Amino acid sequence: MLLVVSGAASAGRGEPRCPGAHVDRRPSGPESLESLRSIVPEGCDIVVVDPAAGPLPSPAVYGAVVVTGTPAGAGTKWIADLRGAVERGACLLAFANPERDVPGDHEEHAAWAELLGARVASVHPASEWFAKTVTPGDPLTRRLPPEFSFVDRLACLDTAADAVPVLQVSIAFSDRSIVLDRRVGAGRVVTAGTSTDPSVLQHPELSKLFRRVLIPPAALAASEQAVGVGILGYGPYGGMGHYHGLTVQATDGLEIVAACDPDAGRRKAAEEELPGLRTYASADDLIADDGVDLVIVATPPSNHFALALDLLRAGRHVALEKPMCMTLREADTLIEAASRAGVALTVHQNRRFDADFVAVRRCVTAGLLGQIFNVETFVGGFEHPCRAWHSEVSVSGGAVYDWGSHHLDWILQLMDGFPATLTAHGHKRVWHDITNLDQVRVRLAWSDGREAEFVHSDVAAFRQPKFLVQGTEGTLMGTYRALRFERIEPPFGYVIDHAHHAEAPAELTLARYEAGIGLFETRLPVTDVGRGAFHRNLADHLQFGEPLAVTATSAARVVALLEAAQQSTDRGNTPVSLPSL
Ligand SMILES: NC(=O)c1ccc[n+]([C@@H]2O[C@H](COP(=O)([O-])OP(=O)(O)OC[C@H]3O[C@@H](n4cnc5c(N)ncnc54)[C@H](O)[C@@H]3O)[C@@H](O)[C@H]2O)c1
Repeated sequence: MLLVVSGAASAGRGEPRCPGAHVDRRPSGPESLESLRSIVPEGCDIVVVDPAAGPLPSPAVYGAVVVTGTPAGAGTKWIADLRGAVERGACLLAFANPERDVPGDHEEHAAWAELLGARVASVHPASEWFAKTVTPGDPLTRRLPPEFSFVDRLACLDTAADAVPVLQVSIAFSDRSIVLDRRVGAGRVVTAGTSTDPSVLQHPELSKLFRRVLIPPAALAASEQAVGVGILGYGPYGGMGHYHGLTVQATDGLEIVAACDPDAGRRKAAEEELPGLRTYASADDLIADDGVDLVIVATPPSNHFALALDLLRAGRHVALEKPMCMTLREADTLIEAASRAGVALTVHQNRRFDADFVAVRRCVTAGLLGQIFNVETFVGGFEHPCRAWHSEVSVSGGAVYDWGSHHLDWILQLMDGFPATLTAHGHKRVWHDITNLDQVRVRLAWSDGREAEFVHSDVAAFRQPKFLVQGTEGTLMGTYRALRFERIEPPFGYVIDHAHHAEAPAELTLARYEAGIGLFETRLPVTDVGRGAFHRNLADHLQFGEPLAVTATSAARVVALLEAAQQSTDRGNTPVSLPSL
């Protein structure tokens, strides 16, 4: 249980303790308390109290305590009781931003400063800061980038005891601590010089750090054991098995231990590319390997369901390649099996982390387009489709299951709610050596009139935009950019290589309408979240219980659309009513 001691109601009282401090007296209380939930481990109850409103409850029964500002009025006895709780293993996260600081009893302040082992050295106005992780191997900052930016009012901290820096910023070319960690008995005291504004508590990296502070140190240390990963399907075509092997290898906290493929050549490739791992010819043998905690399933789609069900029933965490499976019923069965076994189930919807899509989503979330009422996406060209299983309906599920797994996921990420009806329109006119459709257009309609469309075509000589997002205040367009590598290779001469058109981030243009003026066009930068974001999140989830970036239920909603699209084209392009999900 978490106790939050917040002087929220008292923000604005008195003068700051730090002479010369610039204090923003915005009442940052209530919304901050709401956003405190973003740093509270799942399932943890929160009790919020204001020290100005009466005696504080005894800290002895709480596993974690968050204090925003100095708990003026709490009394030295309460601070001593809190120290006792920390010594027995509790965690204290103190936000030392002086804007919440109020004058109080001198002894109380001295006891508080002594417990934190930290004092505010200087305060700084709102600006963009670059936080550096000082102890990368420490569980508090594990898998955080070495440096990340954030915007906040800031207090720099001096350590007054044995507190050690966790995060620092450089100001005037000098490293200054903004988060300090102090071990007190079996517990921990972490002091942060940030505010508790929602933008700070919901910051992707800071929220991870603060959430970990609230896990008892013993539990945090115990959860650090590396997760043994097995790869099921080490394929040569899309090469996803190889990709997962390399990415697991590069992800702190995950350890590649095994690979399974019925093809002897692929097992040999795995042994050469990932030296030291165990290889198996059958999934049953992989399941029997006790060193495998998590299996990444990268086989062709038609066998995802059966393999994942066996793995989940055997108590293994499962990350499925997209598409999760073929039908909503299968997805529901997998979700139930995972919940029954108490293991994680996720789907590699990796394109949620693509730099162009992250930028599109940020633009939508920030409200730059107003209310979204139409989203259109496109992928394809005029080219003979591949002749591997990817183009055979009985294995792939149908043309829509390939790129549709990503594009329909994107649409659901951008549009609230779930569509009421789906109509797909397929063409089979040009490529007769394969069974997938040449083109499929999926139209989605929401019950309130909003709409979306996804087109995958292998017979489109001109490409439509990758993204077209219409809102009540503007439109965002993302266009494909061909990647060509031209060079002269002596003595043979000119050589050109083409990368798949969907690999380079789209060029994003935002046009917003201003009444009486007209349209403003802006080029949007893409937002790179770094390689391996999916795998880092998986490690964060399995080691520290952090929320999965791709929940199985969100992937099941995609499967429901894929299944309905295939049904629609199978039934002569007729509309399909969708379940409410
Ligand atoms: N997320 C992405 O961006 C992305 C990109 C490409 C492919 N994919 C997905 O990854 C998965 C694999 O695609 P790929 O192109 O790498 O395929 P692939 O054909 O290259 O590899 C599949 C491998 O699975 C093996 N296999 C088949 N049945 C097996 C079984 N029962 N047990 C163990 N191994 C088995 C095959 O021998 C083969 O080596 C598919 O679901 C595909 O849709 C995802």
